Amino acid sequence: MAIDIQWLQRVIERRKKEAGETGVRLHPPAMINEVLEFLRVRELKKGVFVDMTVGTGGHTLEILKANPKVEVIGIDRDAVSLEVAAERLADFADRVTLIWGDMRDTQRLLQQVGIDHVDGCLIDPGPSLWQIDSRRGFSFLDDAPLDMRMDQSSQVTAQTLLQTLSVGELERLFVHAGERRSDARRIAQAIVKERSRSGGIPTAKALAELVMQVKGVRGGRIHPATRVFLALRMAVNEEIDALKGGIMEGAKVLKRGGRLVVLTYQSLEDKTVKETFAALTHPPNKGESRPLIRVLTKDPIRPSLQERQQNPRARSCKLRAAERVK
Ligand SMILES: C[S@@+](CC[C@H](N)C(=O)[O-])C[C@H]1O[C@@H](n2cnc3c(N)ncnc32)[C@H](O)[C@@H]1O
Repeated sequence: MAIDIQWLQRVIERRKKEAGETGVRLHPPAMINEVLEFLRVRELKKGVFVDMTVGTGGHTLEILKANPKVEVIGIDRDAVSLEVAAERLADFADRVTLIWGDMRDTQRLLQQVGIDHVDGCLIDPGPSLWQIDSRRGFSFLDDAPLDMRMDQSSQVTAQTLLQTLSVGELERLFVHAGERRSDARRIAQAIVKERSRSGGIPTAKALAELVMQVKGVRGGRIHPATRVFLALRMAVNEEIDALKGGIMEGAKVLKRGGRLVVLTYQSLEDKTVKETFAALTHPPNKGESRPLIRVLTKDPIRPSLQERQQNPRARSCKLRAAERVK
């Protein structure tokens, strides 16, 4: 399949423009007003929020600006993103604490800084734009090794998976991310063939090119390698397990009446949020009548038309929220 060179050039030019001198873009926070509303940030006389995926600090900055009486604890598994967040949030240093860690450990991480319960939790998972620009192989335009780790101290990279998984295991991974079974098998076979021919696939760009050469694989409106990249990224970062665990932890650390807001960008994530919320609305033990949370959004909330026009990356965003009721 031929690459549309003009399209590629337009993408590269847009990226350069957005990235300015640093070459790296800060992540634009999605659905700011809706997040602040659901968390009731402006209404509180004082309060503590935990941004469980603080990234480069976009949402946290908005929370701190919206109410001078609130504090934010920001957690992220990416230590380098936290350095960027610390610099960006320097004016609010007396009201923000940044912690390196996994959202699945939120309760323990909060206890380390003397906090048992909070007024609100925010989860906004998936790689940030800043990470995508950090040459970790998240993007198919990246002439960089296939790393894809959000936490640079973890052991398994996308390259590890491509080098070690069998055809059947790669196929399952791609199908899980939504690839058609027949395409998934052909792509998995091409990867295994390439690694025995040349020793491996050196870069993200090389993987995207390999997928595009697999006969019959088409992306439709998306790049043909989109689901392959999504599958590898989700596996490397255990994204679905982390999202589920993060929601459970968020529900645990909320005060009664506290709120949890979760943003997602793809259907597997949204399904996980919906199912985990549903599990938390069932009373945990027989004989107990009250569940832990009440779901506030029967259907997910979508960004406004204006936001979708201004920030194309927010187009697929969905917001779900819940309130702790006991
Ligand atoms: C989309 S970004 C967050 C952007 C942020 N809301 C903002 O407005 O700047 C997602 C962040 O979540 C972090 N992350 C993903 N999974 C995580 C986990 N299990 N524990 C902690 N952080 C995680 C990533 O490292 C990334 O920095």
